[in-house]
Amino acid sequence: MGKKISIIGVGKLGLCLALNLEKKGFEIIGVDKSKEYIELLSSKKFVSSEPYVTEMLKESQNIQFTSEISKALENDIIFVVVATPSTTDWKYDHTQIDNVIDHLMKLGPQENRKELIINCTTFPGYCDSLQEKLKDFNYHISYNPEFIAQGSIIKDQLNCDNVLIGQSDDISGSIIESIYIKLCDTTPIINKMSRTEAEITKLSVNCFLTTKISYANMIGDITLRYGGDPKKVLNAVGTDSRIGNKYLSYGFGFGGPCFPRDNRSLIKCGEEVSVNAIIARSTDEMNEEHLKYQVEYFVKNNPDKDKIVDIEYVTYKKESVSLEESQQLKYALELHNLGYKINVQESREEVINQIKNLIK
Ligand SMILES: NC(=O)c1ccc[n+]([C@@H]2O[C@H](COP(=O)([O-])OP(=O)(O)OC[C@H]3O[C@@H](n4cnc5c(N)ncnc54)[C@H](O)[C@@H]3O)[C@@H](O)[C@H]2O)c1
Repeated sequence: MGKKISIIGVGKLGLCLALNLEKKGFEIIGVDKSKEYIELLSSKKFVSSEPYVTEMLKESQNIQFTSEISKALENDIIFVVVATPSTTDWKYDHTQIDNVIDHLMKLGPQENRKELIINCTTFPGYCDSLQEKLKDFNYHISYNPEFIAQGSIIKDQLNCDNVLIGQSDDISGSIIESIYIKLCDTTPIINKMSRTEAEITKLSVNCFLTTKISYANMIGDITLRYGGDPKKVLNAVGTDSRIGNKYLSYGFGFGGPCFPRDNRSLIKCGEEVSVNAIIARSTDEMNEEHLKYQVEYFVKNNPDKDKIVDIEYVTYKKESVSLEESQQLKYALELHNLGYKINVQESREEVINQIKNLIK
């Protein structure tokens, strides 16, 4: 297989993948349905809040941006990176992927074998259903989600310690592996498995991390009420090599566009096969309880409501511009509702506008 790759959906994640792959020598066709956005990308006028993206776009030479999905078929390797928002019943809305597939099917069966690599987060079983749908069209569906976080997508993609491949077959697995070997600055461990196993793995990784965060916050909340220092306790807990210190600090609960929803989707995934995923449920509950304890602790120690409360940021993490499921934002709003005067030390216009819209 050559060094040419198409990416359908060049939004927050897809654009970073396109830029990183281009920098590593691949020729990219980036497809997006938004014509205005494609114009901005093609003219290199697009400005991103994601670190490195604006500069890398300006420097890029081998990416062709288009709104014509048929152009994607000029290459035999096609990544799909469209959005899969959460549904109210804790699954994922696959409509954007379905639309892409419908479009591809209208273009008919393919002469060359096409690798269609689903990079989006999907509900277990979905990618198998896609393969069934496309079985007579010469598409091989693989699932290859990414473990990245907003605010560090470019770096995370280059420095991953493992790659998850839900392969269509061994050929697909080898093709995807070879792409990551070229893409990564690290030498990642490659985990190959079936599509459904990989879909479960993606949710399980995030569920484990949220569990660790909620556990750390639970221990910290208990320690504070005993007058102790959560940092000392958790540092000591984490020095046990079976546990480890990563994601084991006391602080805000988990939020953002991935952790909360992937954790809830694992609960749903269990329900579908009559397994009660009570650990994931408790993790979610503890996240909410923790916010209550944080607010109570602040109120107890700050009875003077006239004093201005400085809050450094209200995005779900400092480097991100996303307010989605942000515990920091919920905390600021709770204190505000209790009568405190809040001063958020935010200078990024994109975030300020979001906050203004929220409190309008
Ligand atoms: N952003 C993250 O931090 C993150 C992290 C991990 C996983 N993911 C997963 O990656 C996927 C993509 O997320 P994102 O944040 O990049 O979404 P996004 O909304 O930023 O980008 C999706 C892009 O797809 C385009 N698109 C939609 N339908 C299309 C179509 N039919 N043809 C061509 N383009 C189309 C949209 O115009 C948009 O630019 C999701 O499944 C998400 O769960 C995202």
